[in-house]
Parts: sequence; C-alpha cells; structure tokens
Amino acid sequence: MMLHIPGVLSPDQVKSMRARLAATDWIDGRASVGSQGAQVKRNRQLAEGSPLAVELGQVVSAALMAHPLFFSSVLPLRILPPYFNGYAGGEHYGPHVDGAIRAQRSGATVRADVSCTVFLSDPEEYDGGELTVIDTYGTHEVKLPAGDAIVYPSSSVHEVRKVERGERVASFLWVQSMVRDDGRRAMLFELDTNIQALRAQHGDGPALVALTGHYHNLLRMWAET
Ligand code: NI
Repeated sequence: MMLHIPGVLSPDQVKSMRARLAATDWIDGRASVGSQGAQVKRNRQLAEGSPLAVELGQVVSAALMAHPLFFSSVLPLRILPPYFNGYAGGEHYGPHVDGAIRAQRSGATVRADVSCTVFLSDPEEYDGGELTVIDTYGTHEVKLPAGDAIVYPSSSVHEVRKVERGERVASFLWVQSMVRDDGRRAMLFELDTNIQALRAQHGDGPALVALTGHYHNLLRMWAET
C-alpha cells in the first residue's frame, strides 16, 4: 500500500532544516548501499550518525510517530534513524529494491517493511526527481509538497528519476512494522479508517464496540512486538 501523509513537518520546521542542511557537508550516497545499489545510486547524503543527521532525524521520527495517519497505516514497531539526501545536476537513484535487513550501529538488526520519504523541497524547486514506485497496479510517480511524506512497501522496485534542474532534498527512512505483511497492514488500515468514520457519524454503539474489538483481535493475531 502506498499512502500520502500530508503535513508531517510544518513550514517552519522545513525551513529550519533546509537552512541547517545547506550549511553542512554531504558525502557520496553510495556509502550506505550494497554492491547492486552502488551501481545505480548517484546522490549525496549526510553521513550516517553525524550529529546533524541524528538531531534532525529525531525531529522527523517524532513528527511521523505523532501523525495519526502514519501510525494507523504503518503500525510502526521500530523506526531506523532517518537519512537526509540531496539530488542535483542529473543525480538520480536507478531502479532497485531496498535490502530486507538493516544492521544498526548497536549491532541490532531491523527488518525494513515500510519505506518512507519526507519531502523537504517543494515540487517547483526542481525538475525531474520523481520517486517512482512499481507495484501490481502499475508505476506511480510521486512528487509531494515540502513537509509531506509518502509510505510504500520496502519490497517494491523503486527509483528516483534524474534531477534536471534545481535541487531535491528529502529525508528517508525505513520502518519495521508490527505487521510484516503489506496486505494485512492495508486491511487493518482500511478497517481502522472506517471505524473512525462511523464513530464520527454515529458515535459509539454496540456494533461499533464489536467492530473495534474485531480490529484489535486481528491486530492481536498478526502483530509482533
Ligand atoms: Ni530505495
């Protein structure tokens, strides 16, 4: 399931992050990929674990965790520290699939179930640079306002197209979900969304209590914690 999550970061948060990112050093994006990714990845990123990446990453993670749509659609168990990347002057990241298991500095491993891009540049700032995700419904091109996020299954083939003008700055992260299967997560999200809509329209009654119970019982059956 792909989902657009609007308003993760406020315009002030985006502005302040962009100013800090513009004033710092970037490294070759190939530092964080395997041999297959290295052949197709051409961009710049903040060094993993650098003080600025850690500080800004905490702001991005906290904003996502506080967003009801992110929580309900992703059911996050562990969020990996966000990366920050920049594309300009023809830089791109060709078609690839993200590695399934990410090793953390502590030695712990996290399974990448959901990939998330938080856009820090507005679409008018650059040409090209679409995030392109291929799934069973076809090819989706994504280019969102600064501060908005997209979540998509880490299992999908995706790419970032060449940036032909301007600069595309974004934050990117992986999440291990409580529910590893994308289809089950999508069903839980749909159920939750409609329970909320019914509650807003009709208030709580016995049927809604039973439906809410059904949601939690499915989560009990499928969740890993
Ligand atoms: Ni990727």
